[in-house]
Amino acid sequence: MALPALGLDPWSLLGLFLFQLLLLLLPPTNAGGGGQEPVPRVKYCAGDGRRALSFFHQKGLQDFDTLLLSGDGGTLYVGAREAILALDIQDPGVPRLKNMIPWPASDRKKNECAFKKKSNETQCFNFIRVLVSFNATHLYACGTFAFSPACTFIGLQDSYLLPILENRVVEGKGQSPFDPAHKHTAVLTGEYHVGVSTSAFPDGMLYSGTMSNFLGSEPILIRTLGSQPVLKTDNFLRWLQSDASFVAAIPSTEVVYFFFEETASEFEFFEKLHISRVARVCKNDVGGEKLLQKKWTTFLKAQVLCAQPGQLPFNVIRHAVLLPSNSSGDSQVYAVFTSQWEISGTRSSAVCAFSLENIKRVFEGKYKELNKETSRWTTYGIPNIDPRPGSCSVGPSSDKALTFMKDHFLMDEQLVGTPLLVKSGVEYTRLAVETARGTDGRDHVVMYLGTTTGSLHKAVVSGDSGAHLVEEIQLFSDPEPVRNLQLAPVQGAVFAGFSGGIWKVPRANCSVYESCMDCVLARDPHCAWDPKSSNCRLLPTHSPGSWRQDMEHGNPDWACANGPMARSHPPQRRPQIIKEVLAVPNSILELPCAHPSALASYHWSHGTATVPGASSAVYNGSLLLLLRAGVGGLYQCWATENGFSYPVVSYWVDSEDQPLALDPELAGIPRERVEAPLTRVGGGAALAAQRSYWPHFLTVTVLLALVLSGALILLLASPLGALRARGKVQGCDTLPPGEKAPLSREKHLHPPKEHRTSAGDVDADNNRLGTEVA
Ligand SMILES: *[C@@H]1O[C@H](CO)[C@@H](O)[C@H](O)[C@H]1NC(C)=O
Ligand SMILES: *[C@@H]1O[C@H](CO)[C@@H](O)[C@H](O)[C@H]1NC(C)=O
Ligand SMILES: *[C@@H]1O[C@H](CO)[C@@H](O)[C@H](O)[C@H]1NC(C)=O
Ligand SMILES: *[C@@H]1O[C@H](CO)[C@@H](O)[C@H](O)[C@H]1NC(C)=O
Ligand SMILES: *[C@@H]1O[C@H](CO)[C@@H](O)[C@H](O)[C@H]1NC(C)=O
Repeated sequence: MALPALGLDPWSLLGLFLFQLLLLLLPPTNAGGGGQEPVPRVKYCAGDGRRALSFFHQKGLQDFDTLLLSGDGGTLYVGAREAILALDIQDPGVPRLKNMIPWPASDRKKNECAFKKKSNETQCFNFIRVLVSFNATHLYACGTFAFSPACTFIGLQDSYLLPILENRVVEGKGQSPFDPAHKHTAVLTGEYHVGVSTSAFPDGMLYSGTMSNFLGSEPILIRTLGSQPVLKTDNFLRWLQSDASFVAAIPSTEVVYFFFEETASEFEFFEKLHISRVARVCKNDVGGEKLLQKKWTTFLKAQVLCAQPGQLPFNVIRHAVLLPSNSSGDSQVYAVFTSQWEISGTRSSAVCAFSLENIKRVFEGKYKELNKETSRWTTYGIPNIDPRPGSCSVGPSSDKALTFMKDHFLMDEQLVGTPLLVKSGVEYTRLAVETARGTDGRDHVVMYLGTTTGSLHKAVVSGDSGAHLVEEIQLFSDPEPVRNLQLAPVQGAVFAGFSGGIWKVPRANCSVYESCMDCVLARDPHCAWDPKSSNCRLLPTHSPGSWRQDMEHGNPDWACANGPMARSHPPQRRPQIIKEVLAVPNSILELPCAHPSALASYHWSHGTATVPGASSAVYNGSLLLLLRAGVGGLYQCWATENGFSYPVVSYWVDSEDQPLALDPELAGIPRERVEAPLTRVGGGAALAAQRSYWPHFLTVTVLLALVLSGALILLLASPLGALRARGKVQGCDTLPPGEKAPLSREKHLHPPKEHRTSAGDVDADNNRLGTEVA
């Protein structure tokens, strides 16, 4: 029986009507890209097998907050709640526990803590906050110790941790916060004497910034350990606002920089205005003799501004790291900021970079001075005192300079940065930065950014044009902040600590880019196309000359061209394989098309023309085709990205009774028969034999019900969707509201979990296998 002519069969007519109704209800396809903000090109939901991650956890342990890489890069030390762990990370796959030492707060401290109305279930524990390499044989660690900070040395033997000796535990006020919720930062540096830097192996001093009292109202910036005097900030002189919250400490040759956030005192504002700061102290500071005894004599601070012209500033600094320069360039501090203000329920984030040279310059300018009568800050020029107050050559006895320092600790100039990356609706918590050398021999800055909802963004700074997001990896299915990030360059991975364990995230999985075009368009400096093996591969340290990449423009026309005359032979746009699908008359055929890139726009073609609109629709990227006479032939899903189009998938739709002739254009391309999901809507050939209208009635009723419920969902979508978005990780597990599957499927040949491994499964590399030690 031939396909019934349209209009003859009332059921077909109804089918067509419902189909048209469906087209009206489908949400418009979003073309992706376009906007100003970078969009992650690829998004991996938790458990996506294309980005297999290893997960370490340990029964009974939580809050894997502090991470430290050993000098040789083979061991990761981890400070968790009431324990410190040494993990062997040398082998691929899940980190292996070398050993673990408990370090619980004492019962006495726990009782006192609970007595002071702190929670014995969530707060009165020893949360490890500081973990640094002190010398070749010892680590130095500090913890909150049930709201009574404590510190200790921990011996090492073959990078195994030796037990903590009770008598070596000392008070840690100013080094660790009291409250695990308070921010803190600490860095260990070598001693610095003018002209002589002994930075070989740090046997030096700990510079830390945190809250130094139980109430969390006295921030302090303090230097301890080592041979130099203990120095701190002066509380009485209000060098720091009482809510100062430290996020990073970065040592330079002569000075140590601290990054923090506090309430602004120099601006009059109708609400409490937060402001980001950089403070600086000299390493050779020994405190004053008569004035400023045991206090910094070189403490200076300045405002840090990360803002786009005409927009609210990103005024709250969350984290900062140093990217040391190689040879010529200047070392840069990369910092993540969020905005104090929420816009439609979400905050935005930005990344700014500041060169050490610029930071240094800010501290060489004018000062600010508080007019005590008007309580206003005014600009104060440079005083006629030599050496300059606050400079590292001020001695302990230059009373004139020290008197000046007491009231002139705020610089007039701001440290200004232009955002490299702005992302609304995302709050970055931490970042890690490294450089990656591309095939062109140039170094590209790669940033890994952890979010409050548990994803990791891999961003690449591309020259002056800002950064692009190579990928987003959702680490957990339930939103939860990334607490810490640690790069492990030897292993080519980033470790992310969170409440329940540690994720090991390999820098890249280049095999997800299946074609040269996809590989080049990804603009991931870690991946390049190897024409010999026809694979997108991880770039080794010395990149083979034949491998292709175009970090600057992401132009596959150039990079994927064949032969030595690269530019004159554009790459093939013929499909690599054609999928043959059998058409069943009077049914809706679904031709899936995976979207390899969120930056591309997608469209379908039918032969050389566009697909007929009346009998087709695109839903979730798939082409829904109402099978009627003459619809057979070639259907291709095209991706257009960066001005370049390539076929993602190509189908040849064959009619059951009239196999179509092979298009000579497509000769030589391998074919593969596949079964596509089908939904029958009318009296098709197979059903016509039965002569019973019951199945038709059923199908149409079900369809009608689905279409109506689809309409209802669409109507409710916006308010409900906004509610749902708060609780759920966006874009994973569910389609955006309003995009519920519109059709029931008679055959569903795509197991939905095809590419997934659930947490706890074991993949080929033995990844994703939790380690538990009884
Ligand atoms: C990398 O991607 C390929 C292709 O999707 C996948 O088969 C493989 O398991 C992935 N490997 C890792 C380590 O994520
Ligand atoms: C916390 O204290 C309450 C009583 O004050 C007690 O019942 C509970 O078991 C304690 N919880 C823990 C974890 O110690
Ligand atoms: C490292 O520091 C610890 C603690 O001060 C000390 O006991 C040990 O001797 C030092 N080791 C070396 C090799 O200097
Ligand atoms: C610095 O660059 C040189 C080549 O320009 C390279 O050999 C060296 O490994 C780089 N060092 C670091 C620390 O990146
Ligand atoms: C949307 O399309 C993707 C890729 O073809 C598929 O994996 C996914 O299951 C589809 N979702 C729904 C709800 O149909």
